[in-house]
Amino acid sequence: MTMRRLVTCCLAFFAVWFFLSEDSPYAKHRLHGGTYQSSAERVYAVAKDNFSWESISPTEELIWTDCYSDNQCARLKVPLDYAHPDGASAAIAMIRIHSAVPHDSPSYRGPILLNPGGPGGSGVDLAIGRGALISTVVGPEFDIIGFDPRGIGRSTPRVSFFASRAERAIWSGNFKKQSLNSSADALPHAYARGIVEGQLAGERDDGSLRFINTDHTARDMLRIVQAHGLEKIQYWGFSYGSVLGATFASMFPDNVGRLVIDGVVDSENYFATEWNNNLMDTDKVWMAFVDGCVAAGPNGCAFYAPTAAELSANLDKLYASLRVRPIPVRTNTSFGVVDYSTLRGTIFQALYRPYQLFPTLAGALADLTKGNATALFKMSETPAFECACDPSQYRFESVGEAGRAVLCNDGKRISPDYEDLLAHYQGLSNSSGWADVWEHIRLPCLAWPEFPKNHFQGPFVANTSFPLLLVGNTADPVTPLWAANKMSRGFNGSVVLTQDSAGHCSLSGPSICTQKYIRQYFLNGTLPEPGTICAVDAPPFLVSGSDAGVDGHAQAFLGVPAEDRELLEAVWKLAKTFDLRFPTGI
Ligand SMILES: *[C@@H]1O[C@H](CO)[C@@H](O)[C@H](O)[C@H]1NC(C)=O
Ligand SMILES: *[C@@H]1O[C@H](CO)[C@@H](O)[C@H](O)[C@H]1NC(C)=O
Ligand SMILES: *[C@@H]1O[C@H](CO)[C@@H](O)[C@H](O)[C@H]1NC(C)=O
Ligand SMILES: *[C@@H]1O[C@H](CO)[C@@H](O)[C@H](O)[C@H]1NC(C)=O
Ligand SMILES: *[C@@H]1O[C@H](CO)[C@@H](O)[C@H](O)[C@H]1NC(C)=O
Ligand SMILES: *[C@@H]1O[C@H](CO)[C@@H](O)[C@H](O)[C@H]1NC(C)=O
Ligand SMILES: *[C@@H]1O[C@H](CO)[C@@H](O)[C@H](O)[C@H]1NC(C)=O
Ligand SMILES: *[C@@H]1O[C@H](CO)[C@@H](O)[C@H](O)[C@H]1NC(C)=O
Repeated sequence: MTMRRLVTCCLAFFAVWFFLSEDSPYAKHRLHGGTYQSSAERVYAVAKDNFSWESISPTEELIWTDCYSDNQCARLKVPLDYAHPDGASAAIAMIRIHSAVPHDSPSYRGPILLNPGGPGGSGVDLAIGRGALISTVVGPEFDIIGFDPRGIGRSTPRVSFFASRAERAIWSGNFKKQSLNSSADALPHAYARGIVEGQLAGERDDGSLRFINTDHTARDMLRIVQAHGLEKIQYWGFSYGSVLGATFASMFPDNVGRLVIDGVVDSENYFATEWNNNLMDTDKVWMAFVDGCVAAGPNGCAFYAPTAAELSANLDKLYASLRVRPIPVRTNTSFGVVDYSTLRGTIFQALYRPYQLFPTLAGALADLTKGNATALFKMSETPAFECACDPSQYRFESVGEAGRAVLCNDGKRISPDYEDLLAHYQGLSNSSGWADVWEHIRLPCLAWPEFPKNHFQGPFVANTSFPLLLVGNTADPVTPLWAANKMSRGFNGSVVLTQDSAGHCSLSGPSICTQKYIRQYFLNGTLPEPGTICAVDAPPFLVSGSDAGVDGHAQAFLGVPAEDRELLEAVWKLAKTFDLRFPTGI
């Protein structure tokens, strides 16, 4: 039995979530009309879990088992509660993309741990889907290690607020996340749902929930490093992964080998559960869409208008129209309704990944102007809920509430009073036009169980054993460059590398310059000069007159020297497929 649109999967608020779909149009895309290919191509062959994690027993030493074609998997046994290391344990699921050089080669440089953000994102999924591309970026000397942070995905115990997958699907499916500006009762309704979720979290807790936090995950990362027989971490964390990285660096400054945080969050604001300084640059990203579309011309951008003001006015008309007249949609495989909230949520999501979504969004908006909402619907559509014939198949499924558990456990308690929520929403609305989408994030924390807050929450300052590299985009919709500069001040010797692009995290835009700096940092510890700004190698929209279609971008790459082609292909594919999920349907 299939229930359509019952699943709000992957509630990753901040998340850099990578997912893989065999029939993704990008899977077939070849950069230069197929003139060259690399080993990076093989990532697209992997589809879904092709491996029984249960077949591995968690161990304190690292034992790798072959999995997912030519990769290795392990489950590392760690204390559930580091204050009671002899008590119950947790098992951290890990996957390794092996270095291309042998481990006994003098050029072998050890493992790099990844975190894809969220919180709640699965590092195993990231490595399965994008590990080979990331390997191409950092170089053949490194192993790439994806791990699911405790509570998440294939790591156990796993967070769940629901008694079954069906219960989760029904709860999520009954309520498509609404723009909090969509109706007079949208905020009170979302408030009430947040209360229910917080209560469920407490009632369904088996005793492990309080240990699902960033402090403990940082300790787990140290265990992973030590299980390799090493002392110092090498790490690349995206988005929320910057909170995890900054936490690790502050807790274990002497264990920093190389640490890159990319798409940097103000960790103080995060641990204060404020979530009110993330959106400083969101409008800049939107303007990148508008200006890019105007510059691209009618052939380069389907939603083209002669001026930015006219384009914005055209969008306002769509908003106004959908508010009073949502559009029914039938496709050959699904059905639904496109309303004001759908449009808000879809645009917000597109801001994370301009290279993947700006042209698609422009097409969908142009269709919408003609009353055809199919393309917009498809952009926001979630996979069908499938009842499990074999429930064990879903034992390690990533679920949205895992991320909510991390952020509510990490953060300071928030007031459960509606008036205080309203005041917070008003404050956020004063500073950002996207409050209606963003305010959802804190809601599960309203009635969160009262666990002791004795975990690490700052300060984020350290003389680390190796300086950090922070990376920020000039127009990142949820992790403004400001935060990278702020966080950098706490870490002695750290440097901020700026990428001049719109989108979330460096990999959302193709920049050989940025990725070479990152590679160089991992490889020989060289930091960019402070103040370094990297350009991207192509704009999201093609400029007027160039070839139509994605392959038209090839023109922008003509100047790239041959030795950089493989790197270019990897960064381009990452930019085209770097998939981060924001709560679907908002
Ligand atoms: C799945 O596992 C089998 C056997 O272990 C292997 O031959 C096959 O290549 C794997 N497929 C993928 C897509 O990883
Ligand atoms: C639905 O339509 C699309 C394109 O219109 C087509 O590619 C796809 O195969 C169709 N799916 C089914 C199940 O008919
Ligand atoms: C609406 O747009 C879709 C493409 O997204 C197209 O396949 C379909 O034919 C259009 N419907 C109408 C009625 O034009
Ligand atoms: C938001 O702005 C309004 C009007 O400027 C002001 O009255 C109100 O106090 C502000 N609210 C918050 C929470 O900052
Ligand atoms: C909320 O909707 C009103 C129109 O009803 C609009 O004027 C306002 O800008 C919207 N605010 C946001 C944050 O979208
Ligand atoms: C870093 O080192 C300097 C001098 O050695 C010292 O003054 C400062 O307190 C240290 N900072 C931290 C956060 O330990
Ligand atoms: C940074 O580190 C250097 C060398 O360890 C030290 O002399 C200096 O005081 C530190 N600066 C701060 C602000 O902690
Ligand atoms: C560091 O590595 C890069 C290759 O990524 C190389 O170009 C550069 O010369 C190296 N620097 C040093 C100091 O070895």
